[in-house]
This record gives sequence, C-alpha cells and structure tokens, in this order.
Amino acid sequence: MIEIKNLHKSFGNHIILNDCNLTIHEGETKVIIGRSGTGKSVLLKNIIGILRPDSGSIKINGVEVTTLNEREYNKIRMLMGMVFQGGALFDSMNVGENVSFVLNEFMKLDKKAIQAKVERCLGMVGLSGIEKMMPSELSGGMRKRVSLARVLCMEPRIIFYDEPTTGVDPITSDVINNLIIDLRHKLKVTSIVVTHDINSAYKVADHIVMLYLGHILAEGTPQEIRDTQHPVVRQFIKGEAKGPITENENLIFGYTD
Ligand SMILES: Nc1ncnc2c1ncn2[C@@H]1O[C@H](COP(=O)(O)OP(=O)(O)OP(=O)(O)O)[C@@H](O)[C@H]1O
Ligand SMILES: [Mg+2]
Repeated sequence: MIEIKNLHKSFGNHIILNDCNLTIHEGETKVIIGRSGTGKSVLLKNIIGILRPDSGSIKINGVEVTTLNEREYNKIRMLMGMVFQGGALFDSMNVGENVSFVLNEFMKLDKKAIQAKVERCLGMVGLSGIEKMMPSELSGGMRKRVSLARVLCMEPRIIFYDEPTTGVDPITSDVINNLIIDLRHKLKVTSIVVTHDINSAYKVADHIVMLYLGHILAEGTPQEIRDTQHPVVRQFIKGEAKGPITENENLIFGYTD
C-alpha cells in the first residue's frame, strides 16, 4: 500500500533521511521506532505530503506521489489520516468543532449527519459527550484521542499515529494501544505508528522497523526485534546509555559541513 524507495530529505545542510526504504502492506500495523530527533515525524510528513522529499520515490496505492501537485495530492490525502504528536487541535474551537472541521470543509453533509458522525467517532475513542469542551480543558491523553476521532470522521484507509502514547500514564497508554488494535481489526485500516514507547510497539505491531541515521536499520516481528542480536537495536530497546549509539551521534552524522 505504501512503498518508499531511496528517500532523501535534508533541511539546509542537515541530512535527516538518507536512502530510506520502507514497504507497508495493506492492513498491517507497522511501528517505526527510533531515537528522538532521528526523523520519524519528518518521514511521516513526507508520506502525507506536508513535507516534500529532496529525492526518492513514495508510492501510495501504486501512485507515485512525490511528483503530484497539491490538488492531486489532496485526493490521495483523503485516504489518509494523521494523529499528530501533540494532537494539533484548534485551541479556539471546541471538541465538536475540531472533530467536524474537516467534514465541514470537504464533505457535503447536512448538520444533523455531521453531528451524528462526530458523536459516533467520539464514542469510538471512548469520549462520548465532550463536544462542548475546549482543548485547554482536556488532558494530553484526551487530546490525542480527540485527534484520533477527527481522523476517524474521514474514514481513512491509512492512519498515521505520531507518538500516540507518549506523555500519557500507563493505563491511558494501554487504552490507546487497544484502540489502535481495535481499529485495525474493525475497520481493516493500515496503520503506521511512530513511537519510542517500546512496550506499545510490541503490543500493537505486526512489524517493527527501526529508523537510525537516516534509514531503516532493522525490521522484524515484535518477537524478532525482542530477540535481536543487532547491537544498535538491542541498545535502543533495552534503553542502555552504553553501546554503539552515542550521545553525540548527530554531531558525527547529518551535517555535511
Ligand atoms: N521543518 C523543519 N525545518 C528544519 N528542521 C526540521 C524541520 N522538521 C524537523 N526538523 C529537524 O529534523 C530532525 C528530525 O525531526 P523529527 O521531528 O522528525 O524527529 P523525531 O524522530 O520525530 O523525534 P521525536 O521522537 O522527538 O518526535 C530534527 O533535527 C529536527 O530539528
Ligand atoms: Mg516526532
């Protein structure tokens, strides 16, 4: 469903993605792990076209998207929904308005139908009846779930989750994990989850890939990753300060000058 080949992305002379290759099959949940600042969010943003790559290919449902103009890209974007790292809610709108925002913009539905859809989607994320609350009144976990409800309203075929469990307590984190698993089974969506929460990765993934120094270093099932002998992956999943990954790796990689 998504095929990424030889992807490169830099900001100025700072190389973020360097020959990145990744394939995501229809219906699977692929989890991308990697350290803070390695380019996980940048990779997602390249796929949904918020950022454009310097070179390389991204095919979504067989369509090469890197050469599409904005209008053409928007058609492909209708297939995809992204739950942003911080929720990305509009602070001046209440929850109901946030969730229905895209519906109001792009779909020709009457008010009642929109309201019913908002109710249904908030129900799916376990937050029925909070339409009138403002984003500032929500906890971090609620914001993430409202953001997911907004995505669900669009009935996407592919859902991207950027750090869905980061910054929430372990129980809320598990609620979100279960939601991701549930949606995969009920709606048969393809899911791409970016996280450095390794327990969440083990729980929700069909396959885990590790992004390191601009490319995909390793790929495997949760069991294979758990048992890996790869020194870099082992250091990351065990969270050890000592190992091949150094504190200053970005000083030796990434800058071309
Ligand atoms: N629009 C931008 N302009 C310039 N640099 C950027 C931009 N977006 C991201 N970067 C840089 O790209 C690098 C990777 O950022 P990214 O947000 O993808 O990291 P991440 O892997 O998602 O980290 P985290 O786990 O903390 O979310 C960082 O060094 C960041 O400063
Ligand atoms: Mg990120």
